[in-house]
Amino acid sequence: MCGIIGYTGSGSAKEKILDGLEILEYRGYDSAGAFFIDEDNFHIVKTKGKVSNLKDEVKKLEGQEFPVGFGHTRWATHGEPSRENAHPHKVGKVTLVHNGIIENYIEIKNRLSKIGYTFNSETDSEVACALLDSYFKENAHPCVAIWEAERVLIGSYAFVFSFEGYKNELFAIRKGSPLHLGRGSDGFYLASDLTALSPFAKEFYTLKEGEIVEISTSDAKIHTKNGVISPIWEKNEIRYQKTGKLGYSHYMLKEINEQPSLVRSCLSGYIKNGLPNFEKANLSYDALEKIKRIHLVACGSAMHASLLGKRFLEEHAKIPCEVFVASEYRYSPPLFEENTLVILVSQSGETADTIASMRYAKDRGNLTLGIINAPGSTLAKESDFCIYTEAGAELAVATTKGYLTQALVLYLFSVFLSLNSKKINEENAKSLVCTILSVDTTIRKTLARQKELSRLAEKIKNAPSLFYIGRGLDYYLCLEGALKLKEISYINAQAYEAGELKHGTISLIENGTPVVAFATSEMLFEKTVSNLKETKSRGAYTILFSGKFSNDMDKIADECFLLDGNTREELIFSLILSLQLLAYECALQKGCEIDRPRNLAKSVTVE
Ligand code: F6R
Repeated sequence: MCGIIGYTGSGSAKEKILDGLEILEYRGYDSAGAFFIDEDNFHIVKTKGKVSNLKDEVKKLEGQEFPVGFGHTRWATHGEPSRENAHPHKVGKVTLVHNGIIENYIEIKNRLSKIGYTFNSETDSEVACALLDSYFKENAHPCVAIWEAERVLIGSYAFVFSFEGYKNELFAIRKGSPLHLGRGSDGFYLASDLTALSPFAKEFYTLKEGEIVEISTSDAKIHTKNGVISPIWEKNEIRYQKTGKLGYSHYMLKEINEQPSLVRSCLSGYIKNGLPNFEKANLSYDALEKIKRIHLVACGSAMHASLLGKRFLEEHAKIPCEVFVASEYRYSPPLFEENTLVILVSQSGETADTIASMRYAKDRGNLTLGIINAPGSTLAKESDFCIYTEAGAELAVATTKGYLTQALVLYLFSVFLSLNSKKINEENAKSLVCTILSVDTTIRKTLARQKELSRLAEKIKNAPSLFYIGRGLDYYLCLEGALKLKEISYINAQAYEAGELKHGTISLIENGTPVVAFATSEMLFEKTVSNLKETKSRGAYTILFSGKFSNDMDKIADECFLLDGNTREELIFSLILSLQLLAYECALQKGCEIDRPRNLAKSVTVE
């Protein structure tokens, strides 16, 4: 979480920092701040809330331009969202911004307090700043202080620093958290992601852990323990387009609406002559042929997409799969057999727990495959292989197209693995590829039914709690449906395996409690319906999302939403669109902040 942008050059630091922070706002938006410096003076500007508030404050510096500056957008870890806790922090001769968590900050704080340091915030970052100040000596280069601090600090961090006496320079170091150096036509940049660099810098260098970057208005140097080196520049392929919402009321709705056309654009690069083809991802077909077991590791919605992936992989490729929540993976601990493939699924490619899981699996000799949206992200770079989901930038905090494209890619990859290991022939594979491609027409139909979903949202939006129930793969969709509803409309939604409810949880059903059932499988339909009826008999207000598996569909529940499509795949993807729109409509009717829900950030870069 937290976004960092730094700049040194001939342009306007104010402009660059504010534009960069706008792009980085998805990483946290409870406060923002900036630091600007020139030969004569410096300014620290901080505000609670969004970057737009910071912009208003920075406007007050009108008429002043600065060649050097940095900015920060915060997702609170230590200390509530407030102006005091916002970055930058300045202690003595050092000013910094920080992304990450310093685990031993209390111990350091106690030590520094004894030698006279006082603190204005509750943050671990201010403590790190004081530590740097305590090590910074006038007659020594700032790198000495940074390396001293590096030895003491435990945790994850990306820092950008300014040191008194070095008005033209910025310094940066990282461990665990991402930070990139960029080179543009008018100076040098530091940023938490490549997207924030893309409007300004066509070349980048990803800092290696332990290296210190020093940028000035004319130069960029990398200090290593063995001396100073020049960065080896890579091309920044990301083209950030400030398209705005294109007339939609929210980014989430825009992104939901992009999904029909994404089906083909996401998959077509991996299909050749009607068959799955992952040459573009440089996959080793030989290594994959030997795979005996698959671990899918991810967080949140990406973990829910992984559950769908498990189903597709087991059904098509007949390889046993286990799905792990990334924050638990290292502690389960997983059992690796020879030829285990570990698939990391992540939209941002920067989720700290997923990165740690990838490193854990790699260190133990396993092959790793990233299924990632963000190009150039840590997971994309460090996994042995990477398949991009090609969803384009996702700006709404709640993922929609990110999740859908993960499910699509996992489906195609499952067909690829089954063909590669000769479990199916080319004809079957082609037919499965056609099946998945055809879901675009189906979901377009579902999109056109937003009004129907809006009407259903009216029925549930005021419920304090709600249940989603389903069996088999439908349960995996329930998990996603419940998460979407919780995160943007703040309804306490729980997903339950339909048959499990009566083993305790059914006692929570009262008159009017909404219970939403998902049924995309004809085979499981009757059983799911029985479970739904069990809740109805206890007063639940029941809603069924289902394929047309009975002639009396409208008599089963209080409300029935007939999914579009005929094939299982069409019903699944129609349901995905429906659950997204239902959550969106609930949040809209409740007046919630849809694109930036409270307490959240898009990229979770702390464990
Ligand atoms: C929910 C949501 C999150 C993410 C999760 C993983 O709408 O967006 O649950 O899916 O934080 O993020 P990535 O995919 O970036 O690793």
